[in-house]
Amino acid sequence: MANIGLMGCGVVADYGHLPAMARTDGLECVALYDPDAVRLSITQSKHRIERGYTDAAEFMASGLDAVAITSPATAHHDNVLLAAAHRLPVLCEKPLALDQAEAEAMISAMQAAGAPLWVGFDYRFSPVSQQIRALIAEGAIGRVRDLRLVYLWDLHGREVRGQDGVRNQRREGRMLEGGPMADCGVHQIDLARWWTGSEVVDARAEGVWVEGYAAPDHMYLHLDHADGTHTLVEISYSYGASCPEACHTFVYEIIGTDGLIRYDRERREFWLRNSQGSRELTFAGEKNFDGMYAEFSRVLAQGGETTLPTALDGLTATRLAMESTLALMRRRTGG
Ligand SMILES: NC(=O)c1ccc[n+]([C@@H]2O[C@H](COP(=O)([O-])OP(=O)(O)OC[C@H]3O[C@@H](n4cnc5c(N)ncnc54)[C@H](O)[C@@H]3O)[C@@H](O)[C@H]2O)c1
Repeated sequence: MANIGLMGCGVVADYGHLPAMARTDGLECVALYDPDAVRLSITQSKHRIERGYTDAAEFMASGLDAVAITSPATAHHDNVLLAAAHRLPVLCEKPLALDQAEAEAMISAMQAAGAPLWVGFDYRFSPVSQQIRALIAEGAIGRVRDLRLVYLWDLHGREVRGQDGVRNQRREGRMLEGGPMADCGVHQIDLARWWTGSEVVDARAEGVWVEGYAAPDHMYLHLDHADGTHTLVEISYSYGASCPEACHTFVYEIIGTDGLIRYDRERREFWLRNSQGSRELTFAGEKNFDGMYAEFSRVLAQGGETTLPTALDGLTATRLAMESTLALMRRRTGG
C-alpha cells in the first residue's frame, strides 16, 4: 500500500483527488498539508484523514511514498522542489508552473532526485478522450486535419463587493493563474498533442477582454502540428457571465478526410460520422480522476512504462498557453 500525502486542500482536492484516492486500490491518502489551518481541518474531517500539517517540512518527513500536489499553480514550484528534496514521486496538478524557467527547474530537481514527476491531465483518462484517440489511430475518420476544442465557461461564483465595485471572486482567483488558456486550455492543448501524436510547430492567438483583467478572459489559440493538422482551442471565463442562468459550452470536434467525431458535453452528444454512416459513441464526462489514480497506483507498485502524462507534456502545454497569453498582453499594452 503506497502512502500518499496531498498538498493543497482546495476545490479540486475535495471533488477530484481525495474521492478518487479513496476509491483506488493500492494507495491511501495518509497526510494533508495546507498553510490555511481552517481549510486543512475542514478537509481532514470531511475526508477522514487523521494527519494534517500546516508545516510543509513536517508533512514531508511524515513517512510518505509519493505526493499529490493540488495547490494553486503559483505554489507548484516550491511544493515540487520540497518533494524532490525527499526523493518522492509527484503527481502535480496542471498548469505545471506559470513560468518556463520554473517548470524546467522542477524537472531538473526531480531528475536529480531520481524521482518521477507526472502532470494531472485527468482529461486523458476520460473514456471519451480514450475513444477519440483509438478512433483516430484506427483511421475511422481518415487523416485528421482539424480539431476544434471549445470550452466557454462563465465561471459564475460568489460576487464580492470591493472598493472598486462588485467582483466575481471565483473568476478573479482563476484569472490569477495565467488566464483561461494557461489555467484550463492546457488540457485541450495536451489532448491535441496526445490525440494526433504530432508536435505543435507554430502557435498564434487572439484574445478578447470582456472584463478588465490583465490577461484576456476569452481566447483563441491556433496550433499548427508537424503533420499538417490544425487545432483551434477557444476558451472563455467570461462567456455569458452577466446572465443569471449559466450557459456553458464544452465541445470537441475532430475533422478528418473521411468524416468527423463530435462530443458535446452540455447536450450529452458523442458521435462519429463518416462515409460508412453514423455511429453513436458511449458518452461520459470530460474528466476521470479515478482512471488517473488507478494508473498512479499501478506505476508506484510496479514501475515501468506508464500512461501518466509526463512533466514534459505539462511544460509543453503550459509554454504554448503562457507564451500566447503574454504575447497578447504585450500587444495590448504596446510593450
Ligand atoms: N485537473 C482539473 O480538472 C482541475 C480542476 C480544477 C483545478 N485544477 C488545478 O488544481 C490546482 C488547485 O485548484 P483549486 O481550484 O483546487 O484551488 P483552490 O484555491 O480551491 O485550493 C488551493 C488550496 O491550496 C492551498 N494552498 C495555498 N498555498 C499553498 C501552498 N504553498 N502549498 C500548499 N497548499 C497551498 C490553499 O489554502 C487552498 O486550500 C490549480 O493548479 C488548478 O489549476 C485542476
